[in-house]
Amino acid sequence: MPERTRTLVMTGATSGIGAVALARLTADGKTRAIIGARSSSTRPTLDGVEMLALDLSSLAEVRAFAAAVLDRLGGERIDMLVLNAGAQFRTTAARSADGFELTFAVNHLAHYLLARLLLPAVAQGGRIVLTTSDTHDPKIFPSAPKRLDVRRWAREPGSASSAYAASKLGNLLTAEAIAALPDTAERQITTIAFNPGLTGGTGLSRDFPAALRQVMRALRPVFILASRLRPSLYMNTPEHAGDILAQLADGTITPPPGHTYASLVRGHLAYPEPSPLAQDPAARDELWRESADLTGLPAH
Ligand SMILES: NC(=O)c1ccc[n+]([C@@H]2O[C@H](COP(=O)([O-])OP(=O)(O)OC[C@H]3O[C@@H](n4cnc5c(N)ncnc54)[C@H](OP(=O)(O)O)[C@@H]3O)[C@@H](O)[C@H]2O)c1
Repeated sequence: MPERTRTLVMTGATSGIGAVALARLTADGKTRAIIGARSSSTRPTLDGVEMLALDLSSLAEVRAFAAAVLDRLGGERIDMLVLNAGAQFRTTAARSADGFELTFAVNHLAHYLLARLLLPAVAQGGRIVLTTSDTHDPKIFPSAPKRLDVRRWAREPGSASSAYAASKLGNLLTAEAIAALPDTAERQITTIAFNPGLTGGTGLSRDFPAALRQVMRALRPVFILASRLRPSLYMNTPEHAGDILAQLADGTITPPPGHTYASLVRGHLAYPEPSPLAQDPAARDELWRESADLTGLPAH
């Protein structure tokens, strides 16, 4: 059995893009992988994968997961922290265990808390990847936020599509905020917000009717044709998006200096400017502070 020389901690590794990435990252047998997953999740049958209970809809579970990870690691550092889990719902009616709107709670607040709890354990030269989406950008997705309103997003975000877009903006701004911390620069940690782009055949739209999902998948060639006019309509495969996620996580691909946002544009990895709001340092800092308050952490 090969010696395990690097450590991965990951969410969203049981399905879709993340399952592909996990398989790639553990393929050489040298990666110790600790993944957080719900009890209902498919258990990955891969060598070297340790599965710990994590339902991101509860901040108490996030805290317990982080404590369990640190306990398992026993001082070992995390080389790759991949925060990829995400969910999309048909309505904004559901609430998390803590009373927050479920999309924002699972996609943003839980990952914000987890990133902050595990950040001290990330290795010198380590990598943090948060999976975001180009739906954060109003130029691409009209329901995306044009201004920051964290309190509203956490409680009454309006439509399901705007809730999803706001939560993915949260992932992007969190990545920007981590990248801007003096501590991460000092420890030469690379932080990336990865947009896989529209990706068919994953479980993301499982809350929507199965017939609609089948039609979407069958229309992949139409989406690819339409992407000549609107690049964001290009439909990726989980295999390709997962492969790129793995390469960003293990350092095979590193964004150019100064770029945190990495995006699959018509299937090719690019480093476009995210939305103006996602580039605004005041919005980044406000989201950080508000999220700290909502998750019960100090701002610093
Ligand atoms: N597919 C797209 O078009 C697209 C586009 C842009 C961005 N993204 C982003 O890509 C990431 C991966 O999505 P995907 O398309 O691969 O979808 P997916 O197949 O549904 O995978 C989502 C993952 O998140 C996990 N998850 C969801 N809710 C959770 C919870 N409450 N607690 C713990 N884990 C939870 C799922 O675990 P279970 O196995 O327990 O369900 C699964 O492992 C997400 O962040 C998504 O927002 C996707």
